[in-house]
Amino acid sequence: MRAAAIAQPNIALIKYWGKRDVGRNLPAVGSISITLHELFTEMEVQLDGSLAGDQLTVNGAPDAGLLPRLSDCLDRVLGDDRDPARIQSRCNFPIAAGLASSASAFAALTVAAAAAAERSLETYELASLAGRASGSAARSLYGGFVELENRRDDIAVRTLRAATEWPLTVVIAITASGPKAVGSTEAMEISRKTSPFYSSWIEQQPHDLTIAREAIQQKDFAKLAAVSEHNCLKMHSIMWASRPPVVYWNSATMSCLQTIRELQAQGLGVFFTMDAGPQVKAVCVPEHAAQVGEALGGTDGVVDLMQSGLGEGARRTKMP
Ligand code: PMV
Repeated sequence: MRAAAIAQPNIALIKYWGKRDVGRNLPAVGSISITLHELFTEMEVQLDGSLAGDQLTVNGAPDAGLLPRLSDCLDRVLGDDRDPARIQSRCNFPIAAGLASSASAFAALTVAAAAAAERSLETYELASLAGRASGSAARSLYGGFVELENRRDDIAVRTLRAATEWPLTVVIAITASGPKAVGSTEAMEISRKTSPFYSSWIEQQPHDLTIAREAIQQKDFAKLAAVSEHNCLKMHSIMWASRPPVVYWNSATMSCLQTIRELQAQGLGVFFTMDAGPQVKAVCVPEHAAQVGEALGGTDGVVDLMQSGLGEGARRTKMP
């Protein structure tokens, strides 16, 4: 009744923004992401009937704040007549700061919980369950370049291309280390209800998905760069035009964009993307990663840098 699993966060290139069913947490649009390698969340789940309720530690310290969402996820995987669980989470990057910590956390938790209860579920079933907790978590069940599609009343997730077939590098410029001010669910609902750009976002997404799918198939970096930057800026424009506006960027976010534009002008293979937070993710060809890291590291307001290749989907690990 004890198992552990590890999952990597993923970064969306064609973004998921908006829900078609808030209760079941179903996305309004499909999305395409890359799963990272170096960043991780490891979850250990021990089901224990003698506990009074679920318990959670994050990097060794008790954390009651995150527990309710994790408990709900366990209920969905195991049923609400399950035994209470002792959950131990280890994470090597900032939580709730726009670095997809919820994606890796719920992907790892889903795999560990099913394993602890000796329930053998297919990856697509695990992805669907993880997606109920956090839409982007469904993609972290898979490695490399991953597409999430809306299918009837569920989602379908698959790898478009393995990480080893097109090994890109992601340099992450951390521009603020605190947790984000507005959670993504709340921000998506504000966008859906108030942004004048929301309906055209939904209409245009299939086109962006097609272009990105083609670019990944053809390993066409310039094509992937153009559609990814455009899709990211559209997502943030929806938020900026909402009431109240949701602005995740800070001045360093903007400076990083400027740096990346200069690197592109010098001919480097790099493009940016940003999620529900002020961090800038620079996706680059591996041979240019060092130069990209140096330039972003020297950009005003960047407090830290992380770098990662592309990695695998969530999987069980041996118990410590
Ligand atoms: O999975 P959530 O609810 O944290 O939403 C993720 C939304 C974005 O990161 C901004 C975009 C995406 O597709 O990951």
